[in-house]
Amino acid sequence: MWLFAVPRLLGSGAQLPVGTFVSFLLYTTMFLAPIDVIGQMARTINRATTSAHRVFEVLDTAPEIRDVAEPVRLEPVHGRVTFEHVTFGYDGVRQVLRGVSFDARPGELIGLVGPSGGGKTTIVNLIARFYDVSGGTIRIDGVDIRRLDTGHYRRQIGMVLQDPYLFHGTVLENIRYGLPDAPLSQVVLAAQAANAHDFITKLQHGYDTVVGERGHTLSGGERQRVSIARAILHDPRILILDEATSSVDTETEREIQQALERLVAGRTVFAIAHRLSTLRKASRLFVIEEGRLIEHGTHAELLARPEGTYRRLYDLQVQLA
Ligand SMILES: Nc1ncnc2c1ncn2[C@@H]1O[C@H](COP(=O)(O)OP(=O)(O)OP(=O)(O)O)[C@@H](O)[C@H]1O
Ligand SMILES: [Mg+2]
Repeated sequence: MWLFAVPRLLGSGAQLPVGTFVSFLLYTTMFLAPIDVIGQMARTINRATTSAHRVFEVLDTAPEIRDVAEPVRLEPVHGRVTFEHVTFGYDGVRQVLRGVSFDARPGELIGLVGPSGGGKTTIVNLIARFYDVSGGTIRIDGVDIRRLDTGHYRRQIGMVLQDPYLFHGTVLENIRYGLPDAPLSQVVLAAQAANAHDFITKLQHGYDTVVGERGHTLSGGERQRVSIARAILHDPRILILDEATSSVDTETEREIQQALERLVAGRTVFAIAHRLSTLRKASRLFVIEEGRLIEHGTHAELLARPEGTYRRLYDLQVQLA
């Protein structure tokens, strides 16, 4: 524009008034701004369609776990869990579990111990039927897990994990997650049993405090107690604890331990722990190594075997302590 305008603005035969040129320039900028917006809009729409595409991809994924034509509903679930020669691999190539068999009676507290990568988490994943076995059978109260109504069955299971998942929302909503209609009084009772009530009432808005994405405004130990309260309120028949007391200080660990003791009463519990001392109260301990159940028995029975894996792990931890 300048190249075009300058010869016509200057010199003797100037035919272009300066005012016209300036207003032309100003109009041009006014004209460009909306064009720019249109360009941005195209970009935004493009991004939105790509994201929507991905969301629908997830929504359209057919679940691998499907119910049989006439699924069985156990009413009530007693909580007997039987593994019969269970083999399993995530990728179909490497076997992670190789012939695991056991029978957990209703109300037993089973401790799962063993070296990292042995298959403990895999076993509890199978109990919750996140995957189906490759060989053998898992029975719940004597019924093959594959014949159960998965939704109904999973509602009988509670999980307290190492890094519990909280949703963006209030503490109250997070505790009520499995039982949205629970009255406040019941929620408070659950929180008290979980040793969470005290810290919750100290939060800025108490039970109505918003915990943020994944609960990031709470500490690890606090999140854990909220998830224990959630499990207590939900009142599951089968309970899974995966490293529920790791990464907290001794005082908090004791509070969580107390809360867990209240939680486990009267349920079938599978508890995974690396710190063996936390599992002393277990009815039976299963030692899992390289996908096999290599030893089982009570704490005292396993300690009595001088050559046993449990004995070795235990001695190592005592030495460290
Ligand atoms: N989603 C997965 N896909 C493929 N392989 C997996 C998956 N999860 C676990 N594995 C493999 O299965 C084996 C057993 O893992 P698992 O998580 O059951 O061990 P673990 O006993 O719980 O160990 P840790 O004590 O460290 O938690 C490991 O070798 C692991 O690499
Ligand atoms: Mg694990």
